[in-house]
Amino acid sequence: MKIAVVGTGYVGLVTGTCFAETGNSVSCVDIDERKVAKLKNGEVPIYEPGLDALFERNVKQGRLHFTTDLKEGIEGAKIIFLALPTPPGEDGSADLKYVLKVADDLGYLLEDYAVIVDKSTVPVGTAEKVRAKIAANAKVEFDVVSNPEFLREGVAVEDFMKPDRVVVGTRSEKAKVIMEKLYAPLVRQGNPILFMDEASAELTKYAANSFLATKITFMNEIANLCERLGADVDMVRKGIGTDSRIGKRFLFAGIGYGGSCFPKDVQALAKSAVKADYDFKILNAVMDINQVQKTRLIEKAKAHYGGNLKGKTFAFWGLAFKPYTDDIREAPALYNIDALLAEGAHIKAYDPEAMKNVRALVGDKISYCVDEYHAAEKVDAIFIMTEWPIFRTPDFEKLSSLLNKKVIFDGRNLYEPEMMKEIGYVYYSIGRKDIHE
Ligand SMILES: NC(=O)c1ccc[n+]([C@@H]2O[C@H](COP(=O)([O-])OP(=O)(O)OC[C@H]3O[C@@H](n4cnc5c(N)ncnc54)[C@H](O)[C@@H]3O)[C@@H](O)[C@H]2O)c1
Repeated sequence: MKIAVVGTGYVGLVTGTCFAETGNSVSCVDIDERKVAKLKNGEVPIYEPGLDALFERNVKQGRLHFTTDLKEGIEGAKIIFLALPTPPGEDGSADLKYVLKVADDLGYLLEDYAVIVDKSTVPVGTAEKVRAKIAANAKVEFDVVSNPEFLREGVAVEDFMKPDRVVVGTRSEKAKVIMEKLYAPLVRQGNPILFMDEASAELTKYAANSFLATKITFMNEIANLCERLGADVDMVRKGIGTDSRIGKRFLFAGIGYGGSCFPKDVQALAKSAVKADYDFKILNAVMDINQVQKTRLIEKAKAHYGGNLKGKTFAFWGLAFKPYTDDIREAPALYNIDALLAEGAHIKAYDPEAMKNVRALVGDKISYCVDEYHAAEKVDAIFIMTEWPIFRTPDFEKLSSLLNKKVIFDGRNLYEPEMMKEIGYVYYSIGRKDIHE
């Protein structure tokens, strides 16, 4: 089948590459000329494990193409995915300008029946808006389908190729059959394609992300309570996670959720609720708590240094919002960098993949290091921001010889407090006993 993917970012590129891998001929369209030039040159512009190999194979075998020209990209396509940004607008609700602009263009360009698929995360009613935009100028029949994406950055290829489920919102039998055929190779193990109405499909995505953000936030609140009551959040996590009704995943306390999806999606769902005249109290609490949680390590650092961080130098281990990605959108590390710089501190950072993106944003306000030990040379403390596996078992002897002071503020609970005490570290983490001097 010939398909087009409009928007070649984290979701679009993975979608396009994976559908090429299942034998389709895919055109990826993007307005970013530099990105398309890179892709045409055989370069994958993002870091996503496993993507390079798939990309290379499908480009080589002629199933994956790139263009900045929408008309050229959609030519002959039976399915056109919209994987466009839906950032927060001024009031926090999802800004649909990118999606609706392309829908408008498609109205003029469609030459044959096609299924237009909203893969972007969009509020209830968007499929209807996209349909209306296209219909205003279209001379041919078409269908609009809501097919939200649940992939996780860092394991996006695996998630895409083996989805827990595929959600498809459509009222058209014809579109349903086409979508079923497209996804058939990805659901061979019995993972379902859930067909539903468009509104439910659109809401499912927001409900999933908001539920997960709430789960994390609940554990962060438990962690804060643990610190006051002398309990250990890791023990509580294991204690509740073994209950099959709760499950083990998404129970890790830390310095708040970030990334390109949770913050904006929770906010957008809260806005949708306001517009529907519904007071979604939990979501408002989740957003407030998460904001405060990002400052937990800074509070601890201030308490440790008697309120004054001026002139201190800190190593930052990790910058990405989570491991195995170079994505820094809404990363807690950025928030902590701003806050520490404002206090007059200096930062030496290391991240295996995200330094290029941080440098583009923050420039030389911080310095960038070749590895975690380089970052730790002659600093007053280490701040752990991202749980990259490389940070889990450092050579503490080597580390001790590099640091000015053996102090770690760990936002990801990577080490056992008792072990840190034994090797003479001052060690602060989240929801567990702090090891003071
Ligand atoms: N990143 C994730 O993990 C994830 C997961 C699930 C869903 N989503 C949702 O998928 C959507 C896309 O997210 P993303 O992370 O891939 O975004 P992204 O910013 O990485 O990619 C979007 C791409 O669209 C391009 N674009 C913008 N306007 C265009 C136009 N008129 N024509 C062609 N291309 C255009 C941009 O240049 C960019 O390359 C969002 O709605 C997001 O919420 C993201």
